[in-house]
This record gives sequence, structure tokens and C-alpha cells, in this order.
Amino acid sequence: MSAVRFAETEKSEDGMSLEKFRKEETLAKRKKWIGHSCRLFYSDDPVKIVRARGQYLFDENGSRYLDCISNVHHVGHCHPSITQAAASQMELLNTNTRFLHDNIVLYADRLAATLPEKLCVFYFVNSGSEANDLALRLAHGYTQHEDVIVLDHAYHGHLTSLIDISPYKFRKLAGQKEWVHVAPLPDVYRGMFRENHPDPAQAYADTVKEVIEEVHRKGRKISAFFAESLPSVGGQIILPQGYSTKVAEYVRSAGGVYVADEVQTGFGRVGSHFWAFQMHGEDFCPDIVTMGKPMGNGHPVACVATTAEIAAAFTANGVEYFNTFGGNPVSCAIGLAVLDVMEKEDLRGNAMRVGAHLKGLLRKLQTQHQIIGDVRGAGLFVGIELVTDREQRTPATEAASRLVRRLKEEDRICVSTDGPWESVVKFKPPMCFSMEDAELVVQCIDRILTDMKTQ
Ligand SMILES: Cc1ncc(COP(=O)(O)O)c(C=O)c1O
Repeated sequence: MSAVRFAETEKSEDGMSLEKFRKEETLAKRKKWIGHSCRLFYSDDPVKIVRARGQYLFDENGSRYLDCISNVHHVGHCHPSITQAAASQMELLNTNTRFLHDNIVLYADRLAATLPEKLCVFYFVNSGSEANDLALRLAHGYTQHEDVIVLDHAYHGHLTSLIDISPYKFRKLAGQKEWVHVAPLPDVYRGMFRENHPDPAQAYADTVKEVIEEVHRKGRKISAFFAESLPSVGGQIILPQGYSTKVAEYVRSAGGVYVADEVQTGFGRVGSHFWAFQMHGEDFCPDIVTMGKPMGNGHPVACVATTAEIAAAFTANGVEYFNTFGGNPVSCAIGLAVLDVMEKEDLRGNAMRVGAHLKGLLRKLQTQHQIIGDVRGAGLFVGIELVTDREQRTPATEAASRLVRRLKEEDRICVSTDGPWESVVKFKPPMCFSMEDAELVVQCIDRILTDMKTQ
């Protein structure tokens, strides 16, 4: 087939539009050239997006989709200030960190202002995976221990080292390495200690203590405890208040460090704080924080922040840390522009206001639809967990998948599912998501769930 067939009529002989033809052709070429483990959203009927602005995506026909998925395009897709900052710096210079340049120090300075004073050394990298891999090295260098504790269902990245510490992945692959230990996910909705437990934070922290004791019995030593500050792949979980502080205490007394993975949750997504770990109280400070996705609004930039002591141990091994692209002037210019837009447009405030409105509307919907077992979240990090019965809390996996498909097909709203049973519908939209967007989404969910009741 050739696109030439369309030159005069914009229709093929069999009535297919030029755009549809091109889409089919792209799909066929993608199947041919791109590894099949790189999956598409809506694989039965993928969406071809050709441009975007703010929280909206546009397909090849100009149809608009509301993006409730992308926590990467943090200040909005193709924000003009970000594009401008990238273009200006690209026109001027792009080198690596071996040359002295203002941008990297200006950016580190701005990030330092958002973090506790103790987290004062920065390493810039290109992806959340690179950040977590470096965090593993830093922890190992500082503690001289090897073992890592992670939460069940966690995902920390696609590198070999991170597949090893991601139960979400390794359970489907070769399995668990002897240096990796899994603690229960502190999920007070469907975990082992629930909302009716008198002290779920202590009870879940005790499970980590037990893991540490077991590791010691085997003659091994803890290097790090790794956790997202709000486990996202685990199903938009809100850790019980006090859990992280207690876990940090147990891990440190075993000679290990606490790594907070803020790749999804950082940069004001939770609204009330810049970092989700700050929700756990003033007295809680991780030893290493990793960040990525929202930093560059789509440009690959990520970072590790740590303490002077951990950084000193890494330096002491005498080996240079060089990352060809990490921290280059363009990436840092973009990172700075993201912070500027966040401040100018009060996007953290917006996340707090719109997130609270969205959660409130969803909670109201929960009173009308038995299938909504739980609504939880912070700022624009929200999840609704669907269940087939509220008593047993049986995951409604199929219904969640149907809801996602119908929202796309009938309303052009993109959402995704997560959690161990893919029964949690997740909202993590660009931070410019509006009150009207929230209301529209909830109206559409209401209509579809009402319709699903009669089917
Ligand atoms: C919590 C978390 N950590 C790390 C990563 C890895 O980041 P990247 O895909 O940028 O390598 C991801 C990616 O989805 C993530 O969700």
C-alpha cells in the first residue's frame, strides 16, 4: 500500500481515510521494528497522539483526549516556557559536567531549598532507573553491606539491578535474589493490618524489624531500605502516619540507609508538600532521595540527593562518577524552568485544591456505587479501588479494565490501572488539571458505572 493512493480524494478505494491508513501503517511498522515487550496503551485500539497542550492530547484527527495518566508532563504538555528554555540553551551550549557551568549549580541550589538541609549533595542522571541504580551504589559504598529491603509489589526501574529489587517484576522472572528481602506493603485497605487496627504504622514497621532480624540470623547485613513515599505501582497506597520514621530507625540501627523513591511522587504532586516523604512529618528525613519523571516535563533528567557523609564515602573509593548526559546545561535549564512555572502558576496549590475536589467527588460517588471500595490519595495522586464485594474486598479487575476502556472510547479520557490486581484506577495528571476536568471525569465514571450495573 502507498499513501499516493490518497492524493486526490483523501479516501482509499475501500473508503479508509488517509489518517486512518497512516495510523494502520505506523502500527504495522511499529510491530515490525519495535520490540513487542514495549507495550502500547489500549493495545486493541491504540491512540495515535500527534500533539499536546496542557492536560490535553490530540490525535491525528484533531480529537482531544484528557490526560489523567502523565505525571511526567508535570507543568503541562509542551509548556511554552519549557520549550523556550530548552531552545535557548540548545542554541547556546550543551556540554557535560566536566566543564564548569552555572546551570547545574543553580539547579542544585533550587532543589536544595526544597529538601531538608541534610540532603545537600546532588548527582544528576537521565532517568529514574539510573537514579535508583546510583542510590544502590551509594548505599553499598557507605554501609559496606549488601542486602536490600523493599516493599511488596514495588517497582524501582528497568535496569538489571532494579529488576532485582522490584517484586512487581522479579516475581514474573527469575525470582528473588538472596540479597533482596520483601516486607509487606503497608496497605491499610487490603493489607495484613487494616484501618481498624489500633496502630497499623507500628504493626507494619514491626514487619520490617522482623525482616532485619531474619537477615541477621542468616549472617547478612542491611545496606538499604527502598520505598516509594507513596507506593504507586502497589496501588496508590498512603503509608500509615509514623511508619517511615519507625522503619528508618530500625534500618539505621542495623547499619543501613533509608532510600525514598520520589520518582513518581515528588515535585509537589501531593500538593501539601514538595516531597511526599515530607507528609510523614518534620522528624522524618531519608538518607537518599531519588527523583525523575516530572523534573524535565518530558525531557530526560533525573537526580539523586544525599547526605555529605554518604557522598564522601562514594568519593573515597577514588573512582570518578561520570555521566555523559546527566546534568548537562540543557537538562538543567529545563529543570529550572519547570520549577519557575510551578511557582508562577502555583501548581502545588492547584494540586491541593483540585486533588481535594476530585477526591471529594469520588467519595460521594462511592456512596452511590458499591463497586467503589476505597478512594485514597494526596493532591493529584489519587486512586479508586474497585471491588466486586465490599465485605471481602475482592478486586474487580475486569470491571476496572472495562471502565478504563469505556472512558477512552466514549469520553476520550485517559486513565490507567495499577495495584497487585490491576483493580485501582489511578489519577496522576499534569499539575494544571482543572476543577472542570475533575468534574468531567467523575461525571463520566458515574455514567459508566451506572450503566455497568445493568449489564
Ligand atoms: C517509582 C518508580 N521508580 C523508578 C522508576 C524508573 O524510572 P524510569 O522509567 O525513568 O527509568 C519508575 C518508572 O516508572 C517508577 O515508577
